[in-house]
Amino acid sequence: MSKYWYKNAVIYSLHVESFMDADGDGIGDFKGLTRSLDYLAGLGVSCVWLLPFFPSPNRDHGYDISDYLNVDQKFGTLGHFVEFVDAAEEYGIRVIIDLVLNHTSVDHPWFQEARKNKNSKYYNYYIWLDEKPANSHEDIIFAHHQDGNWEYDEVAGQYFYHTFYQHQPDLNITNPDVQEEIRYILQFWLKLGISGFRMDAVPHMLRNKGKSKFKGDPFKFLRDLRSFIQDQRNDAILLAEVDTEPEKYEDFFGQGDQVQMLFNFYLNNYIYLALARKSGKPIAKALKDIPQTSIKEQMGTFIRNHDELDLERLTKKEREEVFKAFAPEPNMQIYGRGIRRRLAPMLGNNRAWIELTYSLLFSLPGTPVLRYGDEIGMGDDLSLEERNSVRTTMQWSMENHGGFSASKKQDIPLPAIKDGKNGYKKINVHDQMRNPKSLLNWMERAISVRKECREFGWGDYELIKTNNDRVLAHFCHWQNGHTLAVHNFNNKACEVKLRLTKDQADHLIECFADRRYTPFDVSTRILKLGPFGYRWFRRSSLFL
Ligand code: NOJ
Repeated sequence: MSKYWYKNAVIYSLHVESFMDADGDGIGDFKGLTRSLDYLAGLGVSCVWLLPFFPSPNRDHGYDISDYLNVDQKFGTLGHFVEFVDAAEEYGIRVIIDLVLNHTSVDHPWFQEARKNKNSKYYNYYIWLDEKPANSHEDIIFAHHQDGNWEYDEVAGQYFYHTFYQHQPDLNITNPDVQEEIRYILQFWLKLGISGFRMDAVPHMLRNKGKSKFKGDPFKFLRDLRSFIQDQRNDAILLAEVDTEPEKYEDFFGQGDQVQMLFNFYLNNYIYLALARKSGKPIAKALKDIPQTSIKEQMGTFIRNHDELDLERLTKKEREEVFKAFAPEPNMQIYGRGIRRRLAPMLGNNRAWIELTYSLLFSLPGTPVLRYGDEIGMGDDLSLEERNSVRTTMQWSMENHGGFSASKKQDIPLPAIKDGKNGYKKINVHDQMRNPKSLLNWMERAISVRKECREFGWGDYELIKTNNDRVLAHFCHWQNGHTLAVHNFNNKACEVKLRLTKDQADHLIECFADRRYTPFDVSTRILKLGPFGYRWFRRSSLFL
């Protein structure tokens, strides 16, 4: 199998906890997830990214790990995990898992031992100081919860460093013993059949902190990880969470020898600016700012993830524009930088607008990463705290708990959204399966055409000039496949003239669109688009 499988993959992210509960205790589990594989296969996704499912006190939704080599018992056992990975393989679905190496939970036995005993080898797994530095350069992520990066530990009688919450001490990645532990973690999960890792908080991992300093190039750490995972499994990938300026992306890709994939946070921010302004221009700008990836590298493009929609890549003024359009109430905003809503309610559940957004996602250069529930237009619950608003359970049917759990209890740990426009009585999988016009059926079709047009994932892109800023037109090319995608960001129909060469305009076959249009007039190069309309055209040697 190709080790470049990620170039034309469709990745689906989910948390075991909120997907499907098979044992009726009100918490999602691996058995439930295994039962849902037929659904995921039908949808057409080729890879599932599992958010953390390891033992954890769960003070940061599992990103606070207390044992890297196990499954939290509330989700099942290692046996259930292997059964899931094996069944997924039968369906042709790969599995990648979260890899959280920047920090552990304070509950991790390493930390418990470290704080008690300065002579134990675990002491140097973390980063300690006797005195809090007076003028340390602070790197604060959760302003409401953090009073700097150093927390006093009563047992140790010292301060430890934490990038995130104070219950998440940073690991001293520069310590060779920690690096050895990391290799055990990688090897363990790869041997259980996974195809790689989504790496958490990568730029934070590579920073010097207190006395923890990298000797030489910190990126060597990524090269070591990459070479180690590929020694274990040739097709294993690293998909890194790197929310920085695009000029720094190359630092993380290296010479094709570090991470294979980076999430495209930059483009994500400009997609929202484009939606807010009803103009294609911000996306054209963002694409120009991002370096084109080489054949071995790939960007992971996404619309929403499990966190806040972090808009830090925009200017303050641009961020305000997006807030005004999609999160006008203070309760919809979070951490002074983001939005805690899902896409469908942000777009007023406007079906045409939602389609435009996903049509764009599937056609932009990169590998699309979906989030569970977005395929049916799930909403958010703003009565829940912080990011929990977008972490409600999957809505399968109109039954109790939205079909997520057979629990007879009225209250289960993770509530489903019951009422309102996006509640499970109105929005659920079973209902949409029966309706050929549903968003779910649209999504299946979109995914299948996207996978046919391999040039979106594999190829280079080219922006096509038009006479209308509301419209984005781009061409993707790979070997004998060429696809043109045209998107109208405005809610009014339009005509747009495309500056296509003769070669580009000839033999284009319309393969995906929001409606049936009159054929594209090649002689005038004028194209009609409905409100939020989109059209994809493909030229392939197959058709010539
Ligand atoms: C990034 C994860 O996406 C987020 O959910 C988490 O809180 C932080 N890393 C800390 O692990």
